[in-house]
Amino acid sequence: MVYFEKSDALKRLPKQFFADLVVKTNAAIAKGYDVINLGQGNPDQPTPPHIVKSLQEAAANPLYHKYSPFRGYDFLKEAIATFYKREYDVSIDPKTEVAILFGSKTGLVEIGECMLNSGDTVLMPDPGYPDYLSGFALANLNMETMPLRAENAFLPDYASMPDPLLDKAKLMFLNYPNNPTSATAPADFFEETVKVAEKHNICVLHDFAYGALGFDGKKPRSFLQTPGAKEVGIETYTLSKTYNMAGWRVGFALGNKSIIEAIELFQDHYFVSLFGAIQEASAKALLGPQDCVRELVQRYETRRNAFFDAAKKIGWDAVPSQGSFFGWLPVAKGFTSESFFEYVLDKAHVVLAPGVGFGKGGENYVRIGLLSEPERLTEAIDRIGKLHLFD
Ligand SMILES: Cc1ncc(COP(=O)(O)O)c(C=O)c1O
Repeated sequence: MVYFEKSDALKRLPKQFFADLVVKTNAAIAKGYDVINLGQGNPDQPTPPHIVKSLQEAAANPLYHKYSPFRGYDFLKEAIATFYKREYDVSIDPKTEVAILFGSKTGLVEIGECMLNSGDTVLMPDPGYPDYLSGFALANLNMETMPLRAENAFLPDYASMPDPLLDKAKLMFLNYPNNPTSATAPADFFEETVKVAEKHNICVLHDFAYGALGFDGKKPRSFLQTPGAKEVGIETYTLSKTYNMAGWRVGFALGNKSIIEAIELFQDHYFVSLFGAIQEASAKALLGPQDCVRELVQRYETRRNAFFDAAKKIGWDAVPSQGSFFGWLPVAKGFTSESFFEYVLDKAHVVLAPGVGFGKGGENYVRIGLLSEPERLTEAIDRIGKLHLFD
């Protein structure tokens, strides 16, 4: 066989840090241990039945057996605009301010190629969601990090970023509720973001994947609720977490018309839009009863309370999550995030995601997923407690 070289763009793609962890986790499972895996971010609950039923019915419609319109069905874009008006009181023109995505990940990865040129600078939160890096690599961007520190409530500190850096930056990624830190963003932070973006001509992408998941009765804010946000950026949203539809691959981007047009143009050349029946069921999800979302938030909040109460009892001092379905906890003294992961997997058969996998700024932390029932979460803490790492 002739070995054909991959393109330079593919060679630039980052190594998948978490692939090694999956190998180590599977090795422990293969040895027969009852492994509690808190390392992943895959929603554990099924899609609500009324949404599944809607797909089943729509799948029989011959209209949907044809190619979908390239940019998606108008009824879905209109449903998205209605959803944003209802949930956030944000007005969106469904014709020019919405692009449908194959899961929000597609939008996050393609935006670099849509808006920037090779060598342009992008600002990345550190720690941050590693999939952003794939898009930076494909578009050959220069990445600069924005540290998210506990003392700044895991928000970037614009005042500490030099003007030349902000002048050079063309794109900024933000994500609240945040993966991995589980922090949420207050209104004044988004207001400051708009000011910084206007002053330095930066296009902002706010990743609102966990938009539905806020605790203690606090609904996370959409970036688009901020005056001027639509002038400087877009928000990406996904049905993956709000409606447990991760396998369906439905997301959307909305906001600034010029950015939306660039995404639509890019997608005209790469894809034909999602299966029409999925678009119909997605519109039903957005417009239909929302009790399922309230129940889901309650479920995650119950798990969060169980986990953090138990952690406190063993002396593991951590700030309970404000949103998302993650928890972000400091490692025990004397460990790095990777050595802590190894030790806890080896001795307690509990999988935690080492913070360093989300960037240097994640060192000394681990991320847990609230994606198991409370008994399993508290059992994980009991097992870690027996190691006396926090006494
Ligand atoms: C921060 C963040 N953004 C985006 C995504 C992508 O979600 P999807 O592609 O399913 O819409 C995820 C998924 O885990 C995520 O954690």
